[in-house]
Amino acid sequence: MNGKVHIMDHPLVAHKLTILRDKNTSVKDFRELVSEIGMLITYEATRDLLLTTREVETPICTTTAPTLKGKKFAVVPILRAGLGLVDGVLRMVPGARVGHIGLYRDETTLEPVKYFCKMPKDVAERDILIVDPMLATGGSADAAIGFMKEYGCTNIKLMVLLAAPEGIERIQKSHPDINIYCGAVDEKLNEQGYIVPGLGDAGDRIFGTK
Ligand code: PRP
Ligand code: URA
Repeated sequence: MNGKVHIMDHPLVAHKLTILRDKNTSVKDFRELVSEIGMLITYEATRDLLLTTREVETPICTTTAPTLKGKKFAVVPILRAGLGLVDGVLRMVPGARVGHIGLYRDETTLEPVKYFCKMPKDVAERDILIVDPMLATGGSADAAIGFMKEYGCTNIKLMVLLAAPEGIERIQKSHPDINIYCGAVDEKLNEQGYIVPGLGDAGDRIFGTK
């Protein structure tokens, strides 16, 4: 199966992303917006969840109505910045489990270094949504998808707020089966591996560490 890139085409997402990009946006507002946009992209990323039906008694009559089939789902944030998106996903899919992958980019090589990993026991049976605000070189997401495949996961999606064309290309090469959901695709990477125009360092802006 060939993965697709789903770019959000919605005025609310576009508006909120512009506020995120603004360097004068406060940590509090930044954090809230990351969560809100995460919720909106989750709406798109869960469009193919399976439905079944059940009988429900309305105040008027009994009817057969759609309900989620209850397939197991897990959200997997790439630490640290991915944590900012978890809350938005859980507001849409409250029963989801959460697995964590800790990765940081080595500032010289730009390659990811793993420092933490904790997954639900039955993760291989779950549909996986990996979340991270930024897909830059794609190194972190590439590694995270690889780890999830090593765990035996077969249905994996990637959700990001901003993507660089370079990152998308890398994921499409390494993991052609993966669907990517993103708020917007930016122009390019700069020499330091930052997305241009981007929003700066997502982790620092979410956690106020700079
Ligand atoms: C950022 C971001 C991604 C990664 C993207 O994390 O949250 O995980 O960089 O870059 P890449 O596509 O080139 O791998 P960072 O390494 O700054 O760590 P942090 O989340 O702890 O801030
Ligand atoms: N990581 C970030 O947080 N921002 C970028 O622009 C690139 C990688």
